[in-house]
Amino acid sequence: SRSVKLAVIPGDGIGPEVIAEAVKVLDAVTTGSGLSFEKTHFSLGADRYLATGDVLTDDDLAAIAGHDAILLGAVGGKPGDPRLAGANIERGLLLKLRFSLDHYVNLRPTTLFPGIASPLAAPGEVDFVVVREGTEGPYVGNGGAIRQGTPHEIANEVSVNTAFGVERVVRYAFEQAEQRRRKLTLVHKTNVLTFAGGLWKRIVDQVAAEHPDVAVDYLHVDAATIFLVTDPARFDVIVTDNLFGDILTDLAAAISGGIGLAASGNINPAGAFPSMFEPVHGSAPDIAGQQKADPTAAILSTALLLRHLGERELAGLVEQAVTADLAARTGASRSTSEIGDAIAARVAQN
Ligand code: NAD
Ligand code: IPM
Ligand code: MN
Repeated sequence: SRSVKLAVIPGDGIGPEVIAEAVKVLDAVTTGSGLSFEKTHFSLGADRYLATGDVLTDDDLAAIAGHDAILLGAVGGKPGDPRLAGANIERGLLLKLRFSLDHYVNLRPTTLFPGIASPLAAPGEVDFVVVREGTEGPYVGNGGAIRQGTPHEIANEVSVNTAFGVERVVRYAFEQAEQRRRKLTLVHKTNVLTFAGGLWKRIVDQVAAEHPDVAVDYLHVDAATIFLVTDPARFDVIVTDNLFGDILTDLAAAISGGIGLAASGNINPAGAFPSMFEPVHGSAPDIAGQQKADPTAAILSTALLLRHLGERELAGLVEQAVTADLAARTGASRSTSEIGDAIAARVAQN
């Protein structure tokens, strides 16, 4: 039997609601499996900040880093809450975890499950994965403002792209393509962002030479948004920078059944640090506390977690249960916990 130390960070808004269901499904799938999770609950996020003034202390980070994996709901307080002015929970918590734990792969699969209505009339076979760089780009916080608050303010937010950082994520994307339909699309904006785009393009071309069986394609990010809507079936693996990947994956969620279904993994492939699994969506303050959130994205994130741990069979059981639940959806609305109960029950049957 195997015991895995799991840090659970439910977070804010709908985070705790969807994580309760994800944990329910994890418990159901591991019961009697020989795998068990030893869970530590971390109360972090806007509520914790408001209560204590702390976002993520060094002790929190060290404690989380001592786990084998992390399951996170969502963070971010109510928009416009004056008590949060100046605090940046997203940067201080979520991005700090991704950067400190070297989650350079942000893996965001998109599948149009059977029975799910896409807003696209003829979406075709939608099954691709976005490999979003997770530790560089415009997210690094390399910015500043001068003459702030004056009509002459200058605000800079510099995108950092290193050859080392780009190469390692591009290599990961090619490895994904080798295991899939052998098609890789680099998305960037090389016509304008010539320095960063040039580096990405050169590295993709170099690594492509080692993978002659992978068909390599390039799209500017603006054109990529066209094709995600008009012909999403053309994509297999998309590799892109941190910010483009953020934007494209909300669009990818929208064409494949909505943000309530989109799962992700923040991965440190070599396992030097624990990887972190979370729905793509945020804390959804507009529906928080009402049992209206779809927990499917969080539940599918546990399948990514199980697969990352090498528990392919258990991951498959979760995915099958979700697939069956999605196929059986009638349009009648169910609460967050009703959806979790239904998926957990299907998992337990198998
Ligand atoms: P959001 O993803 O929270 O919400 C966008 C829309 O999608 C809302 O209408 C919401 O109700 C809906 N939605 C989201 N998840 C849903 C679900 N599971 N089921 C049904 N509907 C769902 O994005 P936002 O409104 O831009 O951000 C809200 C807060 O969350 C902000 O503070 C933002 O910074 C934060 N955020 C955090 C994460 C994260 O923790 N990973 C991700 C995105 C945004
Ligand atoms: C996401 C979110 C985060 C991001 C924010 C909340 C920092 O939008 O996980 O997609 O931009 O990466
Ligand atoms: Mn996002």
